[in-house]
Order: sequence, then structure tokens, then C-alpha cells
Amino acid sequence: MSEVNIIIDGVQISVPANTNVVDAARMAGIAIPVFCYHPRMKAVGMCRMCLVAVGTPRIDRETRQPVRDVEGKSVIAMMPKLQTACTTRVSEGMVVYTTTDEVKYAQNGVLEFLLTSHPLDCPVCDKGGECPLQNLTMEWGPAVSRFDYTDKVHFEKPIPLGDLIYLDRERCILCGRCVRFQDEIADDPVLGFDSRGRSWHIISKSDPPFDSKFSGNTTDICPVGALTSADFRFKARVWEVQSVPSICTLCPVGCNTTLDMRHNKLMRVMPRENAAVNDIWICDKGRFGHRFIESTDRLTTPLVRRDGALVPASWQEALGLVAEKFAAIQSAAGGAALGGLAGDHLANEDLFIFQRLFREVLNSNNLDYRTGTPGEPTPDDAGAQFGVGTGTNLMELGAGTTVLVVGADPEEEAPLYMLRLRAIAERGGKLFVANARPTKLDRSATRRLHYRPAQEIQFVRGLLRLVWDKVGSKNLPQRTAGAAELKAALGNGSIADVARNIGIERDALAAVADSLAEAQHVLVVYGGDAFAAGPALARDLGTLLLLLGKVGTANSGLIPLLARGNTRGALDMGVRPDKSAGYLALKQPGLSAREMWQAAQAKQLRAVYVMGLDPASNNPAARAALDALEFVVVQDMFLTETAQLADVVLPAAAVAEYDATYTNTERRVQRARQARPAPGESLPAWAIVQGVAQALIALLVTTGTTEAVAGNGKGKKATRQAMALTDEPLFDYLTSSEIAADIAAQVPGYAGITYDALAKTALVNNWGRQTNESVYYDGTNYENGEGIGIQAPVLAELPRASFDVAPLGYEMLTTNSEYPFVLQVQKLLYDADPLLRDSLLLNHVPAPSIALSYADAERLGISRGDIVRVASATGAVEAPARPVADLAAGSVLVPAHLPGLALAQLQTGTRTRVALSKVAV
Ligand code: SF4
Ligand code: FES
Repeated sequence: MSEVNIIIDGVQISVPANTNVVDAARMAGIAIPVFCYHPRMKAVGMCRMCLVAVGTPRIDRETRQPVRDVEGKSVIAMMPKLQTACTTRVSEGMVVYTTTDEVKYAQNGVLEFLLTSHPLDCPVCDKGGECPLQNLTMEWGPAVSRFDYTDKVHFEKPIPLGDLIYLDRERCILCGRCVRFQDEIADDPVLGFDSRGRSWHIISKSDPPFDSKFSGNTTDICPVGALTSADFRFKARVWEVQSVPSICTLCPVGCNTTLDMRHNKLMRVMPRENAAVNDIWICDKGRFGHRFIESTDRLTTPLVRRDGALVPASWQEALGLVAEKFAAIQSAAGGAALGGLAGDHLANEDLFIFQRLFREVLNSNNLDYRTGTPGEPTPDDAGAQFGVGTGTNLMELGAGTTVLVVGADPEEEAPLYMLRLRAIAERGGKLFVANARPTKLDRSATRRLHYRPAQEIQFVRGLLRLVWDKVGSKNLPQRTAGAAELKAALGNGSIADVARNIGIERDALAAVADSLAEAQHVLVVYGGDAFAAGPALARDLGTLLLLLGKVGTANSGLIPLLARGNTRGALDMGVRPDKSAGYLALKQPGLSAREMWQAAQAKQLRAVYVMGLDPASNNPAARAALDALEFVVVQDMFLTETAQLADVVLPAAAVAEYDATYTNTERRVQRARQARPAPGESLPAWAIVQGVAQALIALLVTTGTTEAVAGNGKGKKATRQAMALTDEPLFDYLTSSEIAADIAAQVPGYAGITYDALAKTALVNNWGRQTNESVYYDGTNYENGEGIGIQAPVLAELPRASFDVAPLGYEMLTTNSEYPFVLQVQKLLYDADPLLRDSLLLNHVPAPSIALSYADAERLGISRGDIVRVASATGAVEAPARPVADLAAGSVLVPAHLPGLALAQLQTGTRTRVALSKVAV
């Protein structure tokens, strides 16, 4: 980008052309006060706070050359009036003054005028202490007001804009940041202005009010206390809170947050700037969805079952019982009789030690991070192989980038991707959104492509064919197998036929292929609907990138919208049953969760250890299997449905209660800090697992059992050491950092990712300066003292990486006259997740409904609100009908996890055919 030279307050500086004067001054270390300007939104020049004196070189009318004085310097022609620095772009030779008497007079005037309609309730205003209006008044404002206090305009005090956000209209300075955030960034244009003159005010235009999943961000960027959150208002003064760096684990984005704590109580959750993850935003689930931490339902002591009831016990008793039972079962039936399930929202340290316990001590490979519910996807390996390369930063992408979204609903599955992908399109990138159903991202798409339900693979194969025809195999790396099979599978048939069969115009398919082939950077995002197509689809998407030559490089690659906050970590740590668990090089695959439930019924599996999962809650097969097991251990924060079936319950700490790392879906390993002590006797998950391991090893030493021999050899060492009574400890981690060091030493891709290394990744923003500049971003705390995390490389970045592009087989969803509809499952951000307990977001969990196309509604005589029944070969659900535009005829859309809608009964696999009928009333 070309640069221009300007002088601001005597400081000469070169800045990129097209920079506005506020940003240019900032680069020179000069602060120009702003209210309405925000660097993430278009400048609108509404508040006039940034007035400065601007001059440009005088140009000779005849020669069109700059006029020079006797010393040869350009003669500067000052503009007759002050200019708004936020809307003025720099030009060569521009001269700017930010501190002249005239500028100061204007700044004084703007502030004095703003304060004429601002109440003096700073002592009780939530923004007090981080309020730009306070700060700018102190630095740039008048010392006194000439305005008569009694002439101030008064509105009714806070009114709810929605149930999460309150508006105090008399504090509002009408900068429009909130309205513009909703319009430009969130694409939820639900706020607006109403009335005129001194009655001008902000209103919500939506029903329900302030209907947006990003509404909390408006409270951060409101430069006064006009917008406050229902979750925080009147709870604390901001100088009383201590901001502890954390990570949101509620979805795979891994947003950087701070937990603002007072006396160990969580006051509020705020975003922490990380350009490579969440920029300066978080969604409302991340902001308001952490109240579970302080729930009074938290478990505070171990429980053991006595006389049929769970009763409090000591840690010694509980761990002793677990060790005794596990050792006895392992001794009698071997490790194959034991299984472990660990939730993929838990930390890497928890998951790593959990699989160590099973593989090294119990000699069992029966490990899974899923619950065994029909419809759960297979482990995603494509993201680890072809994921975005190290150094990827979506904030830097715009023109020259093509994004293809396949079978994903980013706003519901991983909300920050909605903002980040939109922003790429806003900056000139191409965004193609392909799905079998409408999603909100459609509105931001350069082109949206709605293929017929369950046609993901055919859609991607069509693209592969077009790309192959265009670029052939020339970009395939040397060590690539399966090119001949790929070519054969793609065939020579007519692309028009392919397009017609999947319900898309040929030209639309070709436009995507052309854009992919021409782009400098290619991102392919896939989510829940694509996972339903099985691993063949992810393989094809990886192949697409290989054909395009876009693997293993920064800013290109796959982004799978994985199920939960640390699914990538769970896969990397080896909490999975299959052979391909990276560093573990298992000899034998273990049982998946689903297989474990079958093995339990067959009495081959005798005990399970369930950590942070609740399989009994929505899976009747799991519940029956848990009943059939001899011994069940559950480790959780709450007495879940699964915990209620357990023989021993171990109380676990929450994310805010111990130091740990999490790996987001782009493989960025990030650290969360302990913000408060865990309640009662609960302990970090890793510490409990270590307690179990130590008790087991002690028992094995005492009883002389030699069964603990794991496939990777480390378990042999463990047993040898235990049997020889050496004092070299095996599970002796004192802190989670020591586990992280072991992960760094053993897990491929995690080399060097220690707590020390993570602490050194200080945030440097786009301008090369530390953030937390209150003038720029206002009073909210964006300081990222904990660093930005370290991105682990994808396998494609390894020098000797090898690939296989032979397409995988897949199951066609055959037509079935008894079950003529295709079931589409819709994952929702707000659902029956028990972690939403105690949160204001419970009001946002939608009532169950079943969506169908207008055509099917008309054909079957179904109106909105009629109760309809969706039935499969395994079960049925009923809910009110919701005909929607854009949903393909022949499919129904059922929410994934809502109270009162037991989808698990319905699904026969990741793809299910169903019947739809109106229930007679
Ligand atoms: Fe600006 Fe805040 Fe008023 Fe919105 S509510 S216009 S952000 S002062
Ligand atoms: Fe420039 Fe408002 S007019 S910051």
C-alpha cells in the first residue's frame, strides 16, 4: 500500500494512503479525542469531538504544482474551518494541528454542549471509572458549564432495550456507535433513532426487543453509561474488580475474555483483544453464559453410593473406592472392561492426564469425547491435516480471499466466525455460502448456494471436478497418493447434470470454482450439517485445497466448526478410540462411546469413568447401559442425570477455577487463569484424575498386580516403577504447567507450547503498539496481558507430510416411501445446555418447533403452530410447525438440543429419513 507523508503537530510521519487523520495521529503517538468514531466501524462524523485544523499544500492553478516559499517549502493552505479528523483522509503534504486555541475552543464547546443534556449521575453510573465522557471532559473539556442545571432534559431512567441491555436515554450522547455496530458488524439492524431534537433517542426495532446474539458488545463501545448490561449493572464499581485473563470454552472459537472478579465473585465477563481470534468482540453466550460457575447447585464434596443413596464422603474414601473397583475389574477382565468418557470442553491438561490414566495404568483404549448419541460426527482429522496454517489471521484478509462455507451455520455454531467471515467480505473478499437450508450468513454472502438436502458430497465433488478441469493435478504435493482414483471418481459427465441434480445452477457452481482458483487465500469453513455427511466430505474439502495448492500456508485452509470449546484439544490429546490418535500409535483401537454402551449391555464393559459429560440426559441407550454397568464414576460440577446413576461422584472445578490451556478450532493453544477458588472440596479435573491414578498405582503396588501394560510402552514403565517400589513418581504433577510441559514434549504440534512460551506472546495490535488505549477503545478493558496464544502447526506444514486424495466412500441417503423426508438437524447457540443455568440467556432458549417448507406445508395442509409429528424408524417427536421460506421441500428442520424435543430418539445415524404428519387435535 502506498504511503503519504504528513505533519501532525510538527511530527513528520509516513502513513498508509487512505488512513484517516485520527488513526494517523495515533500512529504518531498523538491522541485526538473521539466519541462517535470507532476504528472497527465506518466514520460518520456525528459528534464533532475530533475537530482539528487541517491544511494541504497550495497548488498553483496553472502549473498544478505545489507553491513553494522562498525557502523552497510548500506553502500550506489551511482550511477555513476545523475539520472532523475521523472523516478526513490523509493526503501528501497535509499538515494537521490538534492543539491550537481554535481546536481547544471547539473541543471545549463540544464537551460543554454534550454535557448540557447529560445527567450528573456519575457516582451511580456503571460506566464510572471507564467512561470516555468523564475522561475526555477531564482532559479536553471546560472546567465549568454555563448551562443551567435545571434546563437539562430528563427522560425516564433506564428502560430495557431488551432483557439483557438497559438504556438510560438521558446519558446517551447519540454517537450512534450501538446502531452502527448492530448494522455493520453484527448484521442485526435492530437498533435505530427515534424522534428529533432534544428528544432524539435510541430504540429497539425488533420483536423480541434487541434481538441479537452480540448485543453485549454495544455496552463496551458505548462511550457513556447509556447502555448497561442487566447482568452487571449496579453490581460493582469497575475499580473494585480484578480482571483475570480467561478463555471462553462454550464454543470452538476460543474467545479471549477477562473475568472481572470482586471478592472471588464473578462480576462480569469482558472481551480481551486478540485479532487472530475474536478481535475485540464476544457473543452474548460468552458474556452472559458463565453464571453456572457460581451456581448454588455446584457439587462441593465427593459422593459415594451407600444403601442406594449418594452420600457425602471424603476424597480418600471416594478415590480409594474408585481405585479398588477399577483395579479389581482390570485384574479380572483386563483393561477392555473399562471405559472413559471426557468432555471436549475440558482443558488439554485434564484430557491428557485422563487418557494417560486409561492407557498407562488401566491398559484401556476405550476412550471417547462424545456421549454415543446417534448423529454425533466422527472425529475430525481434516482440520488437523489441512487446517489453516500457522500465522493465519482472518483480520488481515479481504480482497484476494475466497471463503467457501459448506454445511455450516456460523452464528449458531461458533458466533464469532459470523462476524469474522462477514468482515472479510466487507473488506473485499468473496464469501460463498453453501447449505441445504437458510442461515443468517446468507445475507452477507457474495453468492449463496442452496443445494438439495443431504447433497453436500455431490456439491463438493462437482466443485472438485470443475477445479480439476481448471488446474489439473499440478498443485498436488509430491507425496500425494490417490490422484488416479480421484480423477476416476470425478468422471467425465456433464457438470450441468451434476448441478441440476443437486439443485444449483451450473453457473453458480462455476463461479465458486473460478473464484477459488483465482484467490490468493482460500478458507473453507464447514460445520454441523457437513459433519453429518461423514468423513468423506472433510476429505474432499482437504482435496479441494490440495488441488488449489492452498495447504500448509498462512491464511488458507480448513476451519471446521467443531462441536465444543476444546474438541480440537480432545482429539489432539488422544481422547478418542481410533488408531489414528497421533503420538499414541495405538496397537488396537478401543471402543467408541456408542460401542461402549453396546458392550455394557453385553457385559463386556463393566465400568466407566465419565468426566464432564452427561450421556444419560439425552440418550436412552446410554442410560440403559449405565444402569447395566457394575461401576460408574462421574466427575462433574453438577449432579447431572448421569451423576445420579453413579456409584461415585467426584466434584470438579469450573474453567474459572484453575490454570489450564485450550486449543481452538484453528489450533491456537490459549491459556486461562484461575480467577477464584473452586467451591468446597471440588478440585481441577486433572488433579482428580491424578488422585485416581495415584490411588490405583498404590493399590497395584500393594497387590502386586502387573496387568497395567499399555500399548505405547509407557505403561510398562509405569508398572515396572510401581512394582519395583521406586520412588520415581509417575503421576506427580504439582501444577497444570507441568502437564502442559509433558504435552509439549509428547503431543505432535505442541512442541514448545509451555506456559512460559504462552506468557511471552504479548499482544501487539495492527499498529505495532500495545493496546488498552482508553481514548481509542474507551473505558473497557481490552488489555491482553496473557498473550495471544500459540498456533500449533497443521500436519500439512510438516516437511515430509504425505496426502491421500482418493475419495472416501459414503452412504447415500436412499429414498424411502415410508420415510420420505430428510431430517436436517439445527444446532442452536441457546439450547438445553445445562451450563446456561442461572443465566439471563435462559429466556432466549427458543420453544421447540419443527420447520418445513412452504410447499410441504401447503401440500399437507399444515399451518404455523399446528402440532406436527416427525417419526423415524427409531422414534418420534412432536412440536408446533413453523413453515419457512427457503427450506427445501422434502426436508424438515429440527432443533438439536431443546428441552422437550428428544431428537436422539429420532436419529438413526448422522443422516436420517423421517415421516412428517399433522397431529390431529
Ligand atoms: Fe452512543 Fe451509547 Fe447513545 Fe448508543 S447509547 S448512541 S453508543 S451514547
Ligand atoms: Fe469524529 Fe465523532 S465526529 S469522532
